[in-house]
Amino acid sequence: MKKKYIVTPGPVDVPPQVLLAMAQPIIHHRSPEYTPIFKEVNEGLKYVFQTANPVLTFASSGSGAMESAVVNLLSPGDKMLAIVGGKFGERWFDIGKAYGLDPIIENVEWGYGVDPGRIAEQLKNNPDIKVVYSTLCESSTGALMNIKALADTVSKTDAILVVDAISGLLTTPLKTDEWNIDVVVGGSQKALMTPPGLAFASVNNKAWEMVKKSKLPKFYFSWDKARKNLEKDTTPFTPAITTIFGLQAALKMIKEEGIENVWKRHDRLASAMRAGVKALGLDVYTKAVAPTLTAISVPEGVDGKAWPKVLRDKFGVTVAGGQGDVTGKIIRIAQMGYASTFDVTVALSAVELSLSDMGYKVNIGAGVKAALEYLDQNK
Ligand SMILES: Cc1ncc(COP(=O)(O)O)c(C=O)c1O
Repeated sequence: MKKKYIVTPGPVDVPPQVLLAMAQPIIHHRSPEYTPIFKEVNEGLKYVFQTANPVLTFASSGSGAMESAVVNLLSPGDKMLAIVGGKFGERWFDIGKAYGLDPIIENVEWGYGVDPGRIAEQLKNNPDIKVVYSTLCESSTGALMNIKALADTVSKTDAILVVDAISGLLTTPLKTDEWNIDVVVGGSQKALMTPPGLAFASVNNKAWEMVKKSKLPKFYFSWDKARKNLEKDTTPFTPAITTIFGLQAALKMIKEEGIENVWKRHDRLASAMRAGVKALGLDVYTKAVAPTLTAISVPEGVDGKAWPKVLRDKFGVTVAGGQGDVTGKIIRIAQMGYASTFDVTVALSAVELSLSDMGYKVNIGAGVKAALEYLDQNK
Protein backbone atom coordinates (compact mmCIF):
# COMPACT_ATOMS: atom_id res chain seq x y z
CA MET A 1 0.00 0.00 0.00
CA LYS A 2 1.20 3.46 -0.78
CA LYS A 3 -0.58 6.57 0.46
CA LYS A 4 -0.60 9.23 -2.22
CA TYR A 5 -0.22 12.99 -1.85
CA ILE A 6 -0.50 15.66 -4.51
CA VAL A 7 1.43 18.88 -3.89
CA THR A 8 1.64 20.23 -7.44
CA PRO A 9 0.71 23.79 -8.39
CA GLY A 10 -2.56 22.43 -9.74
CA PRO A 11 -4.54 20.33 -9.92
CA VAL A 12 -4.73 20.28 -6.16
CA ASP A 13 -6.15 18.12 -3.43
CA VAL A 14 -9.93 18.56 -3.20
CA PRO A 15 -11.61 18.74 0.25
CA PRO A 16 -14.18 16.06 1.18
CA GLN A 17 -16.93 18.69 1.34
CA VAL A 18 -16.35 19.39 -2.36
CA LEU A 19 -16.10 15.72 -3.33
CA LEU A 20 -19.32 14.94 -1.47
CA ALA A 21 -21.14 17.84 -3.14
CA MET A 22 -20.10 16.35 -6.46
CA ALA A 23 -21.67 13.02 -5.57
CA GLN A 24 -25.15 14.54 -5.92
CA PRO A 25 -27.38 13.27 -8.71
CA ILE A 26 -27.43 15.35 -11.89
CA ILE A 27 -30.15 17.96 -12.14
CA HIS A 28 -31.12 19.83 -15.27
CA HIS A 29 -29.35 23.13 -15.80
CA ARG A 30 -32.49 24.90 -16.98
CA SER A 31 -34.49 24.07 -13.90
CA PRO A 32 -35.62 25.92 -10.78
CA GLU A 33 -33.28 23.66 -8.78
CA TYR A 34 -30.12 24.71 -10.65
CA THR A 35 -30.70 28.47 -10.92
CA PRO A 36 -30.18 29.34 -7.22
CA ILE A 37 -27.03 27.21 -7.14
CA PHE A 38 -25.49 29.01 -10.12
CA LYS A 39 -26.61 32.34 -8.67
CA GLU A 40 -24.83 31.57 -5.39
CA VAL A 41 -21.72 30.47 -7.29
CA ASN A 42 -21.68 33.74 -9.26
CA GLU A 43 -21.89 35.78 -6.06
CA GLY A 44 -19.09 33.69 -4.56
CA LEU A 45 -16.92 34.21 -7.63
CA LYS A 46 -17.34 37.99 -7.38
CA TYR A 47 -16.02 37.75 -3.82
CA VAL A 48 -13.04 35.63 -4.88
CA PHE A 49 -12.27 37.92 -7.83
CA GLN A 50 -12.88 41.00 -5.62
CA THR A 51 -15.14 42.59 -8.18
CA ALA A 52 -18.67 43.86 -8.55
CA ASN A 53 -18.56 42.99 -12.26
CA PRO A 54 -19.90 39.76 -13.72
CA VAL A 55 -17.57 36.76 -13.65
CA LEU A 56 -18.18 34.56 -16.68
CA THR A 57 -17.89 30.78 -16.28
CA PHE A 58 -16.87 28.38 -19.03
CA ALA A 59 -16.70 24.60 -19.12
CA SER A 60 -13.03 24.36 -20.07
CA SER A 61 -9.62 24.39 -18.50
CA GLY A 62 -8.11 27.77 -17.62
CA SER A 63 -6.55 28.18 -21.07
CA GLY A 64 -10.07 28.46 -22.52
CA ALA A 65 -10.62 31.64 -20.50
CA MET A 66 -7.20 32.87 -21.69
CA GLU A 67 -8.20 32.29 -25.31
CA SER A 68 -11.51 34.04 -24.63
CA ALA A 69 -9.59 37.08 -23.39
CA VAL A 70 -7.87 37.36 -26.77
CA VAL A 71 -10.77 36.65 -29.13
CA ASN A 72 -13.27 38.85 -27.31
CA LEU A 73 -11.04 41.90 -27.02
CA LEU A 74 -9.05 42.12 -30.23
CA SER A 75 -9.53 42.42 -33.98
CA PRO A 76 -7.25 41.34 -36.84
CA GLY A 77 -4.23 43.65 -37.01
CA ASP A 78 -4.54 44.85 -33.40
CA LYS A 79 -1.45 45.23 -31.26
CA MET A 80 -1.16 43.23 -28.05
CA LEU A 81 1.67 43.06 -25.55
CA ALA A 82 2.52 39.77 -23.85
CA ILE A 83 4.62 39.81 -20.68
CA VAL A 84 6.70 36.65 -20.95
CA GLY A 85 8.64 35.42 -17.92
CA GLY A 86 7.91 31.72 -18.31
CA LYS A 87 5.72 29.11 -19.99
CA PHE A 88 2.41 30.71 -19.08
CA GLY A 89 3.36 34.19 -20.23
CA GLU A 90 4.40 32.49 -23.46
CA ARG A 91 0.86 31.14 -23.75
CA TRP A 92 -0.48 34.67 -24.23
CA PHE A 93 1.94 35.09 -27.12
CA ASP A 94 0.98 31.68 -28.58
CA ILE A 95 -2.75 32.44 -28.46
CA GLY A 96 -2.22 35.82 -30.13
CA LYS A 97 -0.12 34.13 -32.84
CA ALA A 98 -2.77 31.42 -33.35
CA TYR A 99 -5.28 34.16 -34.18
CA GLY A 100 -2.97 35.83 -36.68
CA LEU A 101 -1.81 38.67 -34.43
CA ASP A 102 1.80 39.72 -34.10
CA PRO A 103 2.21 40.18 -30.34
CA ILE A 104 4.90 42.43 -28.91
CA ILE A 105 6.85 40.60 -26.21
CA GLU A 106 8.14 42.06 -22.98
CA ASN A 107 10.68 39.48 -21.92
CA VAL A 108 11.21 39.08 -18.20
CA GLU A 109 14.09 37.04 -16.86
CA TRP A 110 12.72 33.72 -15.59
CA GLY A 111 12.15 33.80 -11.83
CA TYR A 112 11.81 37.57 -11.71
CA GLY A 113 8.77 39.87 -11.73
CA VAL A 114 8.06 42.41 -14.46
CA ASP A 115 9.28 45.99 -14.07
CA PRO A 116 6.11 48.11 -14.45
CA GLY A 117 8.34 50.96 -15.69
CA ARG A 118 9.17 48.84 -18.76
CA ILE A 119 5.47 48.45 -19.53
CA ALA A 120 4.93 52.22 -19.17
CA GLU A 121 7.76 52.67 -21.70
CA GLN A 122 6.28 50.08 -24.10
CA LEU A 123 2.90 51.80 -23.93
CA LYS A 124 4.52 55.17 -24.56
CA ASN A 125 6.47 53.86 -27.57
CA ASN A 126 3.47 51.89 -28.90
CA PRO A 127 0.38 53.94 -28.05
CA ASP A 128 -1.69 51.63 -30.27
CA ILE A 129 -1.24 48.63 -27.96
CA LYS A 130 -4.80 47.62 -27.14
CA VAL A 131 -4.23 45.00 -24.48
CA VAL A 132 -1.42 44.14 -22.06
CA TYR A 133 -1.44 40.47 -21.05
CA SER A 134 0.25 39.44 -17.82
CA THR A 135 0.37 36.52 -15.41
CA LEU A 136 -0.19 36.94 -11.66
CA CYS A 137 1.96 34.01 -10.59
CA GLU A 138 4.09 32.59 -13.38
CA SER A 139 3.66 28.96 -12.33
CA SER A 140 6.62 27.69 -14.36
CA THR A 141 9.03 29.74 -12.22
CA GLY A 142 7.03 30.64 -9.08
CA ALA A 143 7.46 34.36 -9.77
CA LEU A 144 4.92 36.94 -8.67
CA MET A 145 4.17 39.92 -10.91
CA ASN A 146 3.41 43.27 -9.32
CA ILE A 147 -0.11 43.51 -10.70
CA LYS A 148 -1.09 46.50 -8.55
CA ALA A 149 1.70 48.63 -10.08
CA LEU A 150 1.02 47.23 -13.55
CA ALA A 151 -2.68 48.08 -13.29
CA ASP A 152 -1.81 51.54 -12.08
CA THR A 153 0.33 52.06 -15.21
CA VAL A 154 -2.08 50.54 -17.74
CA SER A 155 -5.22 52.16 -16.31
CA LYS A 156 -3.76 55.61 -17.11
CA THR A 157 -3.81 54.71 -20.83
CA ASP A 158 -6.45 53.54 -23.31
CA ALA A 159 -5.07 50.01 -23.14
CA ILE A 160 -6.56 47.37 -20.91
CA LEU A 161 -4.84 44.91 -18.60
CA VAL A 162 -5.65 41.20 -18.66
CA VAL A 163 -4.27 39.07 -15.83
CA ASP A 164 -3.90 35.31 -15.92
CA ALA A 165 -4.60 34.56 -12.26
CA ILE A 166 -5.19 30.86 -12.91
CA SER A 167 -2.61 29.77 -10.33
CA GLY A 168 -2.35 32.95 -8.28
CA LEU A 169 -6.00 33.59 -7.46
CA LEU A 170 -6.65 33.29 -3.70
CA THR A 171 -2.98 32.62 -2.92
CA THR A 172 -2.07 36.32 -2.83
CA PRO A 173 -4.09 39.57 -2.70
CA LEU A 174 -5.62 40.48 -6.05
CA LYS A 175 -8.05 43.39 -5.77
CA THR A 176 -9.60 43.51 -9.20
CA ASP A 177 -11.83 46.59 -8.84
CA GLU A 178 -9.75 48.50 -6.30
CA TRP A 179 -6.59 48.14 -8.42
CA ASN A 180 -8.37 48.81 -11.76
CA ILE A 181 -7.63 45.46 -13.36
CA ASP A 182 -9.81 45.15 -16.45
CA VAL A 183 -9.91 41.40 -16.95
CA VAL A 184 -8.91 38.53 -14.65
CA VAL A 185 -8.98 34.91 -15.71
CA GLY A 186 -9.01 31.91 -13.38
CA GLY A 187 -9.43 28.14 -13.26
CA SER A 188 -11.14 25.78 -10.84
CA GLN A 189 -8.30 23.33 -10.15
CA LYS A 190 -6.02 25.62 -8.17
CA ALA A 191 -6.71 27.45 -4.89
CA LEU A 192 -10.43 27.22 -5.66
CA MET A 193 -10.05 23.62 -4.41
CA THR A 194 -12.29 22.17 -7.12
CA PRO A 195 -11.46 19.58 -9.80
CA PRO A 196 -10.31 20.80 -13.22
CA GLY A 197 -12.94 21.81 -15.77
CA LEU A 198 -14.11 25.34 -15.04
CA ALA A 199 -12.58 28.58 -16.31
CA PHE A 200 -13.55 32.11 -15.37
CA ALA A 201 -13.20 35.65 -16.66
CA SER A 202 -14.12 38.82 -14.79
CA VAL A 203 -14.62 41.75 -17.14
CA ASN A 204 -14.99 45.45 -16.26
CA ASN A 205 -16.72 48.25 -18.21
CA LYS A 206 -13.56 49.50 -19.95
CA ALA A 207 -13.03 45.98 -21.30
CA TRP A 208 -16.70 45.61 -22.32
CA GLU A 209 -16.30 48.70 -24.52
CA MET A 210 -13.47 46.90 -26.32
CA VAL A 211 -15.57 43.74 -26.61
CA LYS A 212 -18.13 45.70 -28.65
CA LYS A 213 -15.46 46.49 -31.28
CA SER A 214 -13.69 43.11 -31.33
CA LYS A 215 -13.78 41.25 -34.65
CA LEU A 216 -11.71 38.11 -34.05
CA PRO A 217 -13.81 34.96 -34.59
CA LYS A 218 -15.54 33.48 -31.53
CA PHE A 219 -18.43 31.19 -30.80
CA TYR A 220 -18.23 28.94 -27.71
CA PHE A 221 -16.18 31.52 -25.81
CA SER A 222 -18.25 34.57 -26.77
CA TRP A 223 -18.33 36.88 -23.74
CA ASP A 224 -21.35 38.67 -25.11
CA LYS A 225 -23.37 35.44 -25.21
CA ALA A 226 -22.07 34.45 -21.76
CA ARG A 227 -22.98 37.81 -20.24
CA LYS A 228 -26.51 37.86 -21.69
CA ASN A 229 -27.10 34.41 -20.23
CA LEU A 230 -25.49 35.29 -16.92
CA GLU A 231 -28.00 38.11 -16.52
CA LYS A 232 -30.59 35.32 -16.37
CA ASP A 233 -28.36 33.19 -14.06
CA THR A 234 -27.64 30.69 -16.77
CA THR A 235 -25.05 29.80 -19.42
CA PRO A 236 -25.39 29.59 -23.22
CA PHE A 237 -24.33 25.92 -23.24
CA THR A 238 -24.64 22.93 -20.91
CA PRO A 239 -22.55 23.81 -17.85
CA ALA A 240 -20.29 21.34 -16.02
CA ILE A 241 -23.12 20.82 -13.51
CA THR A 242 -21.26 18.44 -11.20
CA THR A 243 -18.20 20.67 -11.00
CA ILE A 244 -20.47 23.64 -10.26
CA PHE A 245 -21.83 21.67 -7.27
CA GLY A 246 -18.26 21.21 -6.10
CA LEU A 247 -17.41 24.86 -6.63
CA GLN A 248 -20.46 25.90 -4.62
CA ALA A 249 -19.12 23.91 -1.65
CA ALA A 250 -15.58 25.26 -2.12
CA LEU A 251 -16.79 28.87 -2.29
CA LYS A 252 -18.73 28.33 0.93
CA MET A 253 -15.54 27.18 2.66
CA ILE A 254 -13.60 30.18 1.31
CA LYS A 255 -16.28 32.59 2.47
CA GLU A 256 -16.31 31.01 5.93
CA GLU A 257 -12.54 31.35 6.24
CA GLY A 258 -12.55 34.89 4.82
CA ILE A 259 -10.44 35.87 1.80
CA GLU A 260 -7.88 37.81 3.86
CA ASN A 261 -7.28 34.70 5.96
CA VAL A 262 -6.94 32.59 2.82
CA TRP A 263 -4.27 34.99 1.51
CA LYS A 264 -2.48 34.96 4.88
CA ARG A 265 -2.57 31.16 5.11
CA HIS A 266 -0.90 30.79 1.72
CA ASP A 267 1.76 33.32 2.62
CA ARG A 268 2.48 31.64 5.94
CA LEU A 269 2.70 28.12 4.49
CA ALA A 270 4.89 29.21 1.57
CA SER A 271 7.20 31.11 3.95
CA ALA A 272 7.52 27.98 6.11
CA MET A 273 8.26 25.90 3.02
CA ARG A 274 11.02 28.29 1.94
CA ALA A 275 12.48 28.28 5.47
CA GLY A 276 12.59 24.48 5.29
CA VAL A 277 14.20 24.46 1.86
CA LYS A 278 16.91 26.91 2.96
CA ALA A 279 17.59 24.94 6.17
CA LEU A 280 18.38 21.93 3.98
CA GLY A 281 21.01 24.00 2.19
CA LEU A 282 18.91 24.06 -0.98
CA ASP A 283 18.14 27.13 -3.08
CA VAL A 284 14.76 28.61 -3.85
CA TYR A 285 14.98 29.20 -7.62
CA THR A 286 12.63 32.17 -7.72
CA LYS A 287 13.79 35.71 -7.07
CA ALA A 288 10.36 37.41 -6.91
CA VAL A 289 8.74 34.68 -4.81
CA ALA A 290 4.99 34.11 -4.97
CA PRO A 291 3.14 32.48 -2.07
CA THR A 292 1.54 30.24 -4.69
CA LEU A 293 4.30 27.66 -5.00
CA THR A 294 7.93 26.99 -4.11
CA ALA A 295 10.40 26.28 -6.91
CA ILE A 296 13.46 24.45 -5.56
CA SER A 297 16.68 24.39 -7.60
CA VAL A 298 17.90 20.85 -8.19
CA PRO A 299 21.19 20.56 -6.28
CA GLU A 300 24.47 19.61 -7.99
CA GLY A 301 24.79 15.89 -8.47
CA VAL A 302 21.06 15.15 -8.41
CA ASP A 303 19.28 14.03 -11.59
CA GLY A 304 16.56 16.69 -11.85
CA LYS A 305 14.43 14.69 -14.26
CA ALA A 306 14.53 11.59 -12.05
CA TRP A 307 13.85 13.44 -8.77
CA PRO A 308 10.09 14.06 -9.29
CA LYS A 309 9.72 10.44 -10.38
CA VAL A 310 11.42 9.17 -7.21
CA LEU A 311 9.17 11.44 -5.13
CA ARG A 312 6.08 10.07 -6.85
CA ASP A 313 6.94 6.43 -7.40
CA LYS A 314 8.89 5.68 -4.23
CA PHE A 315 7.34 8.09 -1.74
CA GLY A 316 3.85 8.63 -3.20
CA VAL A 317 4.28 12.42 -3.31
CA THR A 318 3.48 14.03 -6.65
CA VAL A 319 5.31 17.30 -7.28
CA ALA A 320 5.82 19.17 -10.56
CA GLY A 321 9.14 19.20 -12.36
CA GLY A 322 10.54 22.11 -14.36
CA GLN A 323 9.20 23.11 -17.76
CA GLY A 324 10.85 24.62 -20.82
CA ASP A 325 14.25 26.15 -20.09
CA VAL A 326 14.27 24.82 -16.51
CA THR A 327 13.38 21.21 -17.30
CA GLY A 328 15.43 19.06 -14.93
CA LYS A 329 16.66 22.14 -13.09
CA ILE A 330 13.83 22.77 -10.60
CA ILE A 331 11.00 21.00 -8.86
CA ARG A 332 7.82 22.87 -7.91
CA ILE A 333 5.78 22.24 -4.79
CA ALA A 334 2.60 24.02 -3.77
CA GLN A 335 0.54 24.34 -0.64
CA MET A 336 -2.37 25.68 -2.62
CA GLY A 337 -6.04 25.76 -1.74
CA TYR A 338 -6.89 22.94 0.66
CA ALA A 339 -3.57 23.06 2.49
CA SER A 340 -2.37 23.48 6.04
CA THR A 341 0.66 22.94 8.30
CA PHE A 342 1.09 19.26 7.62
CA ASP A 343 1.06 19.67 3.86
CA VAL A 344 4.30 21.60 4.33
CA THR A 345 5.86 18.92 6.52
CA VAL A 346 4.77 16.08 4.21
CA ALA A 347 6.37 17.85 1.26
CA LEU A 348 9.59 18.65 3.11
CA SER A 349 9.90 15.13 4.57
CA ALA A 350 9.53 13.74 1.07
CA VAL A 351 12.18 16.15 -0.25
CA GLU A 352 14.57 15.05 2.50
CA LEU A 353 13.99 11.30 2.13
CA SER A 354 14.05 11.33 -1.67
CA LEU A 355 17.31 13.27 -1.80
CA SER A 356 18.89 10.88 0.66
CA ASP A 357 17.53 7.97 -1.38
CA MET A 358 19.19 9.43 -4.47
CA GLY A 359 22.53 9.56 -2.68
CA TYR A 360 22.55 13.27 -1.90
CA LYS A 361 23.78 14.07 1.59
CA VAL A 362 20.99 15.73 3.49
CA ASN A 363 20.46 16.52 7.15
CA ILE A 364 17.24 14.51 7.65
CA GLY A 365 14.67 16.47 9.64
CA ALA A 366 16.41 19.86 9.31
CA GLY A 367 13.92 21.19 6.74
CA VAL A 368 10.88 20.00 8.65
CA LYS A 369 12.30 21.44 11.88
CA ALA A 370 12.89 24.87 10.33
CA ALA A 371 9.42 24.91 8.78
CA LEU A 372 7.75 23.93 12.05
CA GLU A 373 9.75 26.54 13.94
CA TYR A 374 8.65 29.17 11.42
CA LEU A 375 5.02 28.11 11.80
CA ASP A 376 5.30 28.04 15.57
CA GLN A 377 6.77 31.54 15.66
CA ASN A 378 4.35 32.95 13.05
CA LYS A 379 0.88 31.94 14.13
C1 LIG B 1 -0.46 30.63 -14.54
C2 LIG B 1 -1.15 29.58 -15.36
N1 LIG B 1 -1.73 29.95 -16.50
C3 LIG B 1 -2.37 29.08 -17.27
C4 LIG B 1 -2.47 27.76 -16.92
C5 LIG B 1 -3.17 26.82 -17.84
O1 LIG B 1 -4.33 26.38 -17.25
P1 LIG B 1 -5.06 25.06 -17.77
O2 LIG B 1 -4.06 23.96 -17.72
O3 LIG B 1 -6.18 24.93 -16.76
O4 LIG B 1 -5.55 25.33 -19.13
C6 LIG B 1 -1.88 27.32 -15.74
C7 LIG B 1 -1.95 25.89 -15.37
O5 LIG B 1 -1.09 25.34 -14.72
C8 LIG B 1 -1.22 28.25 -14.93
O6 LIG B 1 -0.63 27.88 -13.79
